Amino acid sequence: MKKNIKIAGFCGSLRKESFNNKILALAGELLPDNMELIQITFDTVPLYNEDIDTATPPVAVAALREALASVDGILIVSPEYNHAMPGGLKNALDWASRGANNPLAGKPVSLIGATLGMWGTARMQASFLTFFHLMNMPVVARPEVLINLVSTKFDENGNFTDETTKKLMRQNLENLQSLILAK
Ligand SMILES: Cc1cc2nc3c(=O)[nH]c(=O)nc-3n(C[C@H](O)[C@H](O)[C@H](O)COP(=O)(O)O)c2cc1C
Repeated sequence: MKKNIKIAGFCGSLRKESFNNKILALAGELLPDNMELIQITFDTVPLYNEDIDTATPPVAVAALREALASVDGILIVSPEYNHAMPGGLKNALDWASRGANNPLAGKPVSLIGATLGMWGTARMQASFLTFFHLMNMPVVARPEVLINLVSTKFDENGNFTDETTKKLMRQNLENLQSLILAK
């Protein structure tokens, strides 16, 4: 099937063995057939500074904004850092939001998160909602995908074993597709 819907995938963790990055890869496998995931990296994006946010911004920022301008929606898979969104991720989104035609504006978004702890990123997900609101981004409200105790949910071969969560992810991504098609 032709993949005519493109979504940008952000992982909030830069860690090589990040569980969230593994969940993002899994989301890529669970996407509806007509959707394509393009992973966005932001590890070379500098700290936001309005002095360098000029007509020729840093190369990594220009690439980030260009990549976001070309997609129909956004998927964020992120850990919770001290009950909120990781700073690096917020920094990249702040840069994106100041692009000439804010490439986040109005784009449907889905947010998934995994933690080692019991709360499965509930507080991080809640802390994101005001940002999405300000960006006028419709967010997939249900089903919520909060993956707690994530280190217990992979087998020795690195396969994610929680079938209930996989089902929720599939449904969540289908709902992202619906939000995109409704635009
Ligand atoms: C700076 C920092 C803050 C953290 N804060 C929380 C937290 O508020 N809640 C939580 O459940 N886990 C917290 N953790 C633990 C993360 O759930 C754990 O490190 C997780 O594996 C990070 O995701 P990753 O595997 O994708 O890197 C924190 C970890 C770091 C490094």
